[in-house]
Amino acid sequence: MIANTSVPRRIVCVTGAARGLGAAIVRDFARQGAQVHACDVLEQEGGDLAGALRAKGLDVSFRRLDVTQECDWKALSERLATESGRLDVLVNNAGIIIRKPLAGTTREDWDRALAVNVTGAFLGMKHCRAMLARAAPSAIVNVSSTAGLIAHGDPSYTASKWALRGLTKSAALEFAPQGIRVNSVHPATIATPLTQAAPAGHIAANRHAIPLGREASAEEIAAVVVFLASEAASFMTGSEVAADGGLTTGGVAHMRSQFQAGLAEVAHHGASVARDGREADGTRDPRSIRDSPRGEHGAGQGLHDGAGDARRARDDPGTR
Ligand SMILES: NC(=O)c1ccc[n+]([C@@H]2O[C@H](COP(=O)([O-])OP(=O)(O)OC[C@H]3O[C@@H](n4cnc5c(N)ncnc54)[C@H](O)[C@@H]3O)[C@@H](O)[C@H]2O)c1
Repeated sequence: MIANTSVPRRIVCVTGAARGLGAAIVRDFARQGAQVHACDVLEQEGGDLAGALRAKGLDVSFRRLDVTQECDWKALSERLATESGRLDVLVNNAGIIIRKPLAGTTREDWDRALAVNVTGAFLGMKHCRAMLARAAPSAIVNVSSTAGLIAHGDPSYTASKWALRGLTKSAALEFAPQGIRVNSVHPATIATPLTQAAPAGHIAANRHAIPLGREASAEEIAAVVVFLASEAASFMTGSEVAADGGLTTGGVAHMRSQFQAGLAEVAHHGASVARDGREADGTRDPRSIRDSPRGEHGAGQGLHDGAGDARRARDDPGTR
């Protein structure tokens, strides 16, 4: 006798889905056979993404949803109730960053960051809960940031991502008896439009602070989200999962060792010049070490100027 192993198609809702990480999450779920509701305020981009994936035979629809608007969430949950009666996965991914120090952050900036990054997830969990409970075991994944684990230079973003981490744990407790797991993901820098819009030097500075020496691709972080939403993570709830290339494990120690290696190299070079009275063969001019972009020297060679990196990292509005 052949056992019936057919599993109902998972129904997934992703916010901030039109581009960047959200679009990668949509693609990953859709390729795994899920029916995906891609939600965003960017109608053109979201519609194009859904259309392109449908053309490949995948089940993706776009819906305009502003995560800060309770009426939009109510309308989504009513539609889910009518169409499928359940929701297996909610990914609260929509997010914005206001790159301003505390003194320059206006009340409007503050309210906006918290509205999108925290209230949006709160409303999503509140209004999708009943549909998720019907699909139990089901899952919510909230996209926070390393800014939710350590401090970044933009207080409204940092506060919002810490709040989202706390909200995740609270929801995990409340929803556990209903069979809904809730976890947060904390990425470091990802190559998306959000980071591409950052000031010059942002990504280069962050590479110095990340022990793996690079930013993540959106697909790498999407894979973590999809894992947390899957039954492979069936005993995980309330967890904060850092997907950060080692940044929060030892970004400071990593930068310090680079700094020390740079100092040792400069000292060695100085000694060679003093001894030989000339530029020693195979020894770099320290100015070239200082000015050279990291990509030229590569990770772990200790050739980049730690002081310069630290300066750049300090001046940069945040490492995320
Ligand atoms: N890019 C990074 O380095 C990085 C690092 C850590 C965490 N994150 C987090 O990952 C998530 C995705 O970021 P991204 O890098 O893809 O950014 P992105 O700017 O490329 O995409 C964010 C998406 O959210 C949407 N959005 C914004 N406000 C919305 C609203 N009110 N309602 C619905 N959708 C809205 C935008 O339209 C956009 O499509 C965010 O929560 C961000 O904080 C990003």
